[in-house]
Amino acid sequence: MSTITDTVDAKPVPQVKEWPLIGSLPGMMTDPARYFYDCYRKYGPAYKMHLLGQEYTVLAGEPAVSFMSSRVGKDCLSSHDFWAGLEREWTATRSLPGADGEEHRELREILRRGYSRESITGRYEELIDITDGSIERDWKVGDKVPVVNAFQYMVTDQLGIMITGEAPLEYVHDIRVTILYILNCLVTRQRPQFLLMNPAYKKAKKRVFELAAKIRADYEAGKRAGGEARTIVDDVMEAFAEGSPAMPEQNLRLHLVAPYVAGLDTVANTLAACVYAVVKHPDVYEQVKAEVDNFFDTQEGPIEEQGLLKRLPILNGAIMETMRMYPIAVALTRTAIKDFEFEGYHINKGDLLYMGICVPHFMEEFYPNPEKFDIHRFDPDRNEHKQSGAYSPYGRGPHTCLGKTLAEVQLLLSMARIFYKLDLELPSPNYTLKTKTAPTPGPSMGFKMKVKGYRH
Ligand code: HEM
Repeated sequence: MSTITDTVDAKPVPQVKEWPLIGSLPGMMTDPARYFYDCYRKYGPAYKMHLLGQEYTVLAGEPAVSFMSSRVGKDCLSSHDFWAGLEREWTATRSLPGADGEEHRELREILRRGYSRESITGRYEELIDITDGSIERDWKVGDKVPVVNAFQYMVTDQLGIMITGEAPLEYVHDIRVTILYILNCLVTRQRPQFLLMNPAYKKAKKRVFELAAKIRADYEAGKRAGGEARTIVDDVMEAFAEGSPAMPEQNLRLHLVAPYVAGLDTVANTLAACVYAVVKHPDVYEQVKAEVDNFFDTQEGPIEEQGLLKRLPILNGAIMETMRMYPIAVALTRTAIKDFEFEGYHINKGDLLYMGICVPHFMEEFYPNPEKFDIHRFDPDRNEHKQSGAYSPYGRGPHTCLGKTLAEVQLLLSMARIFYKLDLELPSPNYTLKTKTAPTPGPSMGFKMKVKGYRH
């Protein structure tokens, strides 16, 4: 039970046992998902920890998921403070994740269509062509492909052409460096802010600004790289032209490149984890290959949204299970903007919070044998993810991923083409995935996959 309260009758939040000076840094740098889960088991749904000199209160598990979606949660939580640094860096007044309340609703409405699956209706064949082009370019037979890197290029190709009308591959490195510094130093705050003085970051940021200016100049010159298709660039620029208070001029560059910032690491990390998990489990790999072969070989006419998930249940199960076991947002950062009570604990206005919404992903109570990669958990006769609070890879509450429906198609079709086209092998039969924790948890950049041959 959670209520807004100004009483102090509730119990104090327990403090986790930490290292002197470095606090919870070792746990957070090694495996944050495991750390949040272990602390939840030890201390319950609320606990305090320290990171780089800051105190954080963690609200975790199913109660935290319910709280985020509740009216009280919406009134008491803000993500503004964590995105204010990004807004400052970009001299913008507001970003979508940094907006609250009515301002957030207005901005989300402007951006909703362009970020959703709607924006690619009728363009699935085009998405497949882009994906195939990227496979041909970056996944050559005999190569040991750096998986995360290759997927970053694929995702930029896809997002570029589908969402903004351009594929700015020459900017992938700069976008990645910018995301790395902004998320690490300003949003998740796993690294100190003075690192923003680094010339590598400054150079990358300048290049990303240049990209935004180019997208705007092309639009204003009437160059429609997206052809007839309407893109986010149209939505953003029209809202600005109409004088929407939610889209002032100084925010344009942020909104014009935001799809890359939001989609690059999230999708690339998930795709890389999925390739690993599937190939690591030969029985699953065989089932996936049979399913995608049947799907593409028997397809008549253009691929459409209708029935897509139903025709690829095995692959969809593998992607969902990947997102359960390797979530890219293990906890969400928020500030308490009011005093409130959470599960009998008093939370103070101003407290910095980590919302540990993915803790249930690792709990036996929701997922029997949670360490097992089991793609059938999501089958209609089991539906383990449908239990209250059990599954939150796309976040919870008002800031739930706006690109979710688009990402679902992107993940499914990208994986389908990869497994249809390529015969893949892990670096060694007993290979175990090494992961990185920052800025977005996922497979390490050193993870490579061998392309044994082309299947189709
Ligand atoms: C595997 C793919 C993805 C995952 C797991 C994912 C996950 C998330 C999560 C957890 C959040 C909530 C963050 C918070 O509440 O603090 C979020 C927000 C967001 N995501 Fe995604 N995302 C993915 C792909 C994408 C893509 C492809 C796009 C668009 C190109 C996108 C656009 C956004 C936007 C705009 C927000 C901010 C929403 C708001 O603040 O109202 N995401 N995403």
